[in-house]
Amino acid sequence: MASALTLLTTLALSCAAAASPIVVRDSLVSLPLLRQLNTSQLAGLVTSDQARARSLQGAPQSYAAADNVSVVNQATTYTATVGFGSPAQSYTLIIDTGSSNTWIGARQPVAPVAGATDTGHSVSVSYGSGSFSGEEYDGTVTLGDMSFQQSFGIASSAQGFEGVDGILGIGPTDLTAGTVSDTPSVATVTDNLYQQGKIPQHLVAVSFEPTVSQSDPNGAITFGGTDPSRYNGTINYTPRTTTSPASAYWGINQTITYGSPQGPTILAATAGIVDTGTTLILIASNAFDCYQAAVGGTMDENTGLLRISSSQYKKLQSLYFNVGSVSYELTANAQIWPRSLNTAIGGEEGEIYLVVNDLGTPSGQGLDFINGYTFLERYYSVFDTTNNRIGFAETAYTHAITN
Ligand SMILES: *[C@@H]1O[C@H](CO)[C@@H](O)[C@H](O)[C@H]1NC(C)=O
Ligand SMILES: *[C@@H]1O[C@H](CO)[C@@H](O)[C@H](O)[C@H]1NC(C)=O
Ligand SMILES: *[C@@H]1O[C@H](CO)[C@@H](O)[C@H](O)[C@H]1NC(C)=O
Ligand SMILES: *[C@@H]1O[C@H](CO)[C@@H](O)[C@H](O)[C@H]1NC(C)=O
Repeated sequence: MASALTLLTTLALSCAAAASPIVVRDSLVSLPLLRQLNTSQLAGLVTSDQARARSLQGAPQSYAAADNVSVVNQATTYTATVGFGSPAQSYTLIIDTGSSNTWIGARQPVAPVAGATDTGHSVSVSYGSGSFSGEEYDGTVTLGDMSFQQSFGIASSAQGFEGVDGILGIGPTDLTAGTVSDTPSVATVTDNLYQQGKIPQHLVAVSFEPTVSQSDPNGAITFGGTDPSRYNGTINYTPRTTTSPASAYWGINQTITYGSPQGPTILAATAGIVDTGTTLILIASNAFDCYQAAVGGTMDENTGLLRISSSQYKKLQSLYFNVGSVSYELTANAQIWPRSLNTAIGGEEGEIYLVVNDLGTPSGQGLDFINGYTFLERYYSVFDTTNNRIGFAETAYTHAITN
């Protein structure tokens, strides 16, 4: 308890010392996001999220070589349309905070990209059950109406991707180490936008909105600043965690409590990550046991999710994600899977399934939770490279009844 308090105090001081965010209303690049649920893959939702967790825990040493696990969750993806070449051709890319290379050619060989030059270097990234290899090019990339020079991969072979052309990697630059031959690291799209003076701040902000339909344009990613029309109140920032391997990604320190910020501890102070590529909220196995004890419910074999009765749902209290001096509330409604999509994940109509699940490893791994997009659909998130910090703000959906 003493160490948790010390931690909270330390984070609070760091937060207070950080510069207040500059909100820039022009020269931002904002792209609409489309959420796609692949119903033929949703049955494997939990397995797929846990496999991604295994791969992420392998970082940074064995990231590129992580075995057999899917970094890119194919069951549910957020995609954006990105232009390559001049004139630009459009491709559909997964937005991934957990990897940092940008590449195309996953679906089929791409036509030559107009004006792009072959760097002479090969590129290869293994996402476990998905991977690609090909050639690294320099050329023009267009996000929204902003064009800039970017090094990107064109796949000559790719496995494990369906329905998308590749990935827009917005993770930390270091994750590109070892992916391109004879190249220490590759600048990400955010790096280039900032270094080429296209955006005023080196950050990315993500707005996901809960949706109950299977393919829905319902969010936005903004490069270079935050979009005040998409959040309420202030953005609270916390420094990126120094604990490895969470520190290789967009990692933070956090505790989770039940019922109130001071309520019973579900997950004691530890490091984990914020991740757009994970659907659920995954917590260390021992924490998940505490959660199940608090909420009741039984493990449902068909979905892999915890199932609760309607009387247990009536009693379900909020879960609090305590980050620095701020507690982020995840309401009872935010803890359940959208009921209209129950059958899509192999569940039954009328049942109630929870989105908090087991990470698959006990705490103490240095990556003990993943705040996936069932969390991010309730909070606006800011990935700030300049200040090495992550921010969250409330939105119109934080307390909404959508599920
Ligand atoms: C990993 O992938 C290889 C080749 O695809 C396969 O033979 C092996 O069984 C897989 N291992 C696991 C643990 O899934
Ligand atoms: C969904 O997944 C199946 C099985 O892997 C795949 O064949 C299909 O193309 C995917 N559909 C989309 C839209 O991604
Ligand atoms: C996070 O927690 C670790 C372990 O308690 C601690 O060493 C570190 O200072 C904390 N804060 C950050 C920003 O990493
Ligand atoms: C801010 O909160 C109000 C009241 O809850 C809500 O109506 C509004 O949509 C919110 N705005 C945003 C941008 O989230």
